[in-house]
Amino acid sequence: MAKAKFIPALRFKWLTPLYDFFLGITMPEIKIKNALIEYASISKNSKVLDLGCGTGTLTIMVKEYQPEANVSGVDLDLQVLNMAMAKTEQKGLDIFLIDYDGSKLPFAHNNLDNIVSCLVFHHLNTFKKQQILAECFRVLKKNGRLAIADFGRSKSWLQRLLFNIIRGLDGFKPTEANAKGLLPQLISEAGFENVAIKKRFKTFFGEVQIITAEKI
Ligand SMILES: C[S@@+](CC[C@H](N)C(=O)[O-])C[C@H]1O[C@@H](n2cnc3c(N)ncnc32)[C@H](O)[C@@H]1O
Repeated sequence: MAKAKFIPALRFKWLTPLYDFFLGITMPEIKIKNALIEYASISKNSKVLDLGCGTGTLTIMVKEYQPEANVSGVDLDLQVLNMAMAKTEQKGLDIFLIDYDGSKLPFAHNNLDNIVSCLVFHHLNTFKKQQILAECFRVLKKNGRLAIADFGRSKSWLQRLLFNIIRGLDGFKPTEANAKGLLPQLISEAGFENVAIKKRFKTFFGEVQIITAEKI
């Protein structure tokens, strides 16, 4: 299958090598990723996927948090995956990094205990969000958990205004459902239950929300 079209991590491919540096200085990246791991409820021997793993920062944090877990990361951008591979090799961590087509997750049905995903869904238009959420539902086991960190609709007008910076960069189409606060609804529509916004982070680019859901 041909690869899906995608928006690179920092919008332009030539900026990708600067991704970790840029995120580190502009966002409370580690706080968001730590909260995501905390709310994901990953247990010792879980099989965990980091969806849209990018340069692998969260993937590595998950493996360090739960060393006995079987941890994989998927992305469709080979450039970021190569950066993730260099980081995991440097740390000597046993993590599976997979280049996939951006549509069909390379896992069998009912296979994973946890899926985590950070700052990926605002890169996907609504149809793609629905497609990927359906895939998440398919590959998670019964009682499996989904934990997403991404931009959502804030009660603060300033945060809503700031999100327009990201909307201008990444496009108004892919960010539309985020801006309207529709991500929790899309997660429910994919079949998940107990969908809840657990935490909100105010950032220079708008509000990032931690959303959890379960496949019952
Ligand atoms: C802003 S970056 C976030 C990377 C990483 N999760 C993090 O928190 O640092 C968005 C990532 O989503 C990836 N992406 C875009 N479309 C995707 C898709 N259909 N499936 C998986 N990853 C995708 C991009 O390649 C990019 O690495």
